[in-house]
Amino acid sequence: MKPVKIGICGLGTVGSGTVNVLTRNSRVINARAGSEMVIAQVATRRNDVNCSLDGLNVTNDIFEVADNPEIDILVELIGGIDSARELILRAIANGKHVVTANKALIAEHGNEIFAAANEKGVTVAFEAAVAGGIPIIKAIREGLSANNIEWLAGIINGTGNFILTEMRDKGRGFSEVLEEAQELGYAEADPTFDVEGIDAAHKLVILASIAFGIPLQFDKVFTEGISRISPQDVVYAQELGYGIKHLGIARRGPEGIELRVHPTLIPKSRLLANVDGVMNAILVKGDAVGPTLYYGAGAGAEPTASAVLADIIDVARTLTASPEHRVPYLGFQQENLRDKAILAIEDVETAYYLRMSALDKPGVLSQVAQILSDSGISIEALIQKEAKDEQEIVPLILLTNRAVEKQLVEAIIKIESLSSITGPITRIRVEPLK
Ligand code: HSE
Repeated sequence: MKPVKIGICGLGTVGSGTVNVLTRNSRVINARAGSEMVIAQVATRRNDVNCSLDGLNVTNDIFEVADNPEIDILVELIGGIDSARELILRAIANGKHVVTANKALIAEHGNEIFAAANEKGVTVAFEAAVAGGIPIIKAIREGLSANNIEWLAGIINGTGNFILTEMRDKGRGFSEVLEEAQELGYAEADPTFDVEGIDAAHKLVILASIAFGIPLQFDKVFTEGISRISPQDVVYAQELGYGIKHLGIARRGPEGIELRVHPTLIPKSRLLANVDGVMNAILVKGDAVGPTLYYGAGAGAEPTASAVLADIIDVARTLTASPEHRVPYLGFQQENLRDKAILAIEDVETAYYLRMSALDKPGVLSQVAQILSDSGISIEALIQKEAKDEQEIVPLILLTNRAVEKQLVEAIIKIESLSSITGPITRIRVEPLK
């Protein structure tokens, strides 16, 4: 068969990893693809690449690759939005298939990119955009395609999980651990994307579209980061039998779809609670299959290259198939995507962990319990720490049962206004993941 010509744009961590794995595993890759994969051109402006450039046609202009008539598949690994969008749209206009690891671009401009690709009859593949080496897109889009997906919950940002794990196990400080994640090549160019949940929100939007057959809607995700989690919350959560994880949650309910990223208390006995360090894991509940769990490296050079190359092989295998015989980008045929309502966070129902500082005097607990009870919220568990010598303020930690967020917020405002409660109340959502 005719060789498949690949053009790789960007030789950072993932680009270099892709060249290395393709070179090392070319025999098995070609045998699986049914064609010889040839790197016809690479574009990079770096002089610190971690792969050999021997024998490669190197340019410093990414658009030269998009315009190169020899190339069948353009692999976009430059990251960012504006230039990547322009590059991909140009490659599509030139009739090239595209493989990308760019979650921000797919989450925010995927609808436009897929429409352009449909028009041209080319494929856009993006397995590496979510959870690095874990083939989660393939699993939901193809492996679970007979199911109504009910919900999914995942640890989909390795940097955030690494920070929470180090805080729990070693009591290390937030910034120090973040710096280490940056050195390891896990963190985003702008690490606030990791710690404030934006990176996880990008990935959640993609997973939710594939799970529920809805268009990509990044602006509708509720996003809360981990920067306000304190070591004491990690300790109290442990005492209550929970771990704190930064989760992306998508759930289909009668009123609409929940799309939310936030720190979450989950029972220590759940497998997800034991996913540590930079590892990722996604729990997907289908009506037929039940709960399924996918675990692996969510970032890094070769794990992400593994997903990029799987996409390249998939595209190579279907080069001769007509567009209607290819797997649709979001798993549902374009005309069957439905714009379902996305719930505002105020209307979402979850249980809560509340930590407050209370004056150590009689009656405080009953005042707090009364306010919660007046709002129809009951208390599931409670820890009240003894006052240390001479101290008048004690921490009070409560676990509530499930309540609608706006009811809880109203109750919190009332509790915060009590003269016996000092400072703001810390609130973390709790999910049983049953
Ligand atoms: N910054 C991301 C993470 C990289 O830490 O998971 C992979 O998308």
